[in-house]
Amino acid sequence: MENVTRSGFNRTGAQTSLHTVQNMQAFADEQSPSGPAHIDGVLEGRSIASVRAEFVHEAERIGSVPIPTTLTGVLATGLSKLTGHRPEVLVDKLGERLAFERTGVRLYQALIDKAEAVQADVALPFTIGELKHIRDEELEHMHIVTSALEGLGADPTAQTPCADVAGVASSGAMQVLSDPRTTIAQCLETILSVELTDGAGWDLLIRLSGSAGQDELIKPFREALAREQEHAQQVKGWLERAVVDDLD
Ligand SMILES: [Fe+2]
Repeated sequence: MENVTRSGFNRTGAQTSLHTVQNMQAFADEQSPSGPAHIDGVLEGRSIASVRAEFVHEAERIGSVPIPTTLTGVLATGLSKLTGHRPEVLVDKLGERLAFERTGVRLYQALIDKAEAVQADVALPFTIGELKHIRDEELEHMHIVTSALEGLGADPTAQTPCADVAGVASSGAMQVLSDPRTTIAQCLETILSVELTDGAGWDLLIRLSGSAGQDELIKPFREALAREQEHAQQVKGWLERAVVDDLD
């Protein structure tokens, strides 16, 4: 991996071949389902919005939130103590946090692996130890959420709908981190967006726990939020250093 930005023979821009752009546009018009007269968002006489609306109305939801299957199980667990009529909302968001923190561990491990592979040749804006420290905190956060779910009588190994969506959303980040061609700065940019989302997620979970009457969850969740805010600040600083170093 080369950790610098370089000029090269990039031919993706239209200006590299102006005389063929018109041909390309003509071909796209010709292949459009409704022809050149209807290229402004119309598909076989229908707008793309109406096609999407039809699918949205027909689609089922992404999975469901599992709850203890027996009444005894429900009564014996914290689920029966939840205030409000929709305890599954908290379980769903806890499942999401669990999935997110697990991905966080994997993202940092991928960055550690990359950093260790290039450290002999590249000036890193962080130490490997700093990365390992954050990775371990992400793992601790995962265990905090696992304990919270178990305390409610929910199964932490179940994939909730929001956990499923979080997994899909972060799959792009995992691709960037595990791509051997990406630079340290590109990886940090990706992790920064993950960390910012992470902080917002904990913030929401704290509010939700309060609304559900689960006050004992708020303290450990606030501590996790504080760590996530530190992570975002650290990564932002490292990213700035990595990009500025690239200028030299
Ligand atoms: Fe984090």
